[in-house]
Amino acid sequence: MLSADHLTKEYSEGGDVFRALDEISLEIGERDCLAIVGKSGSGKSTLMHLLACLDSPTSGSVRFNGDDLTGLSASGLNRFRNETFGFIFQQFFLNGRDSVLENVLLPLKIRGVGSAERRRKALEYIDAVGLGDKAKKAAKDLSGGEKQRVCIARALASEPRIIFADEPTGNLDSATGALVEDILFGLNREKGIALVVVTHDEELASRCTRRIELKDGRMIADTANALEVR
Ligand SMILES: Nc1ncnc2c1ncn2[C@@H]1O[C@H](COP(=O)(O)OP(=O)(O)O)[C@@H](O)[C@H]1O
Ligand SMILES: [Mg+2]
Repeated sequence: MLSADHLTKEYSEGGDVFRALDEISLEIGERDCLAIVGKSGSGKSTLMHLLACLDSPTSGSVRFNGDDLTGLSASGLNRFRNETFGFIFQQFFLNGRDSVLENVLLPLKIRGVGSAERRRKALEYIDAVGLGDKAKKAAKDLSGGEKQRVCIARALASEPRIIFADEPTGNLDSATGALVEDILFGLNREKGIALVVVTHDEELASRCTRRIELKDGRMIADTANALEVR
């Protein structure tokens, strides 16, 4: 579905060129559940940003079902991203003063979904993450775990094919983090939404079916995880 071909990202700092990502090629299939792991500074976030077209590579390309995304105009890329990808970050990036409902229906509004329909859909996604009773609360008045669940509901509102999550449980205590993980893996299993999780948490990585390891911007492993027999 999504393929990266020889992705390289360089940053120049005062005349020096620093290669943050070095010739990464990989393919993400429908329903994939992939962890990107590696030490801090190894290039995980950079790779995720390039795959999700939040940033452009110095060289190399990203294709979606064969179409080169690197050639799209800024507005075409924005539209594609809004319709195809959902994002979850360590920092929650919510509009704090707005209600949970308003935060979640924003992607639907951007897409031009009518007001009754977007309200109905947003409430459905808010229910799906277990926050049905908090829809009218201001986002800033929620706990960290609740905020992250609002982010998941908002990601769902774009009915994405792929959810990109960068350290999604990094700001959560372990019980709350486990709940957020359960929701994400449930979406992958039940709705078939592909999941790309950036993490330095080995336990979270082990719940994915595939693991890509980066070191100093290079891919040093791409392995299938043995799944526990339940
Ligand atoms: N905008 C930037 N300018 C310069 N260097 C950057 C920038 N973004 C990331 N880097 C560098 O690229 C490397 C990889 O960063 P990153 O992808 O954030 O790593 P990770 O997510 O694995 O911790 C790091 O050495 C980081 O300092
Ligand atoms: Mg990072």
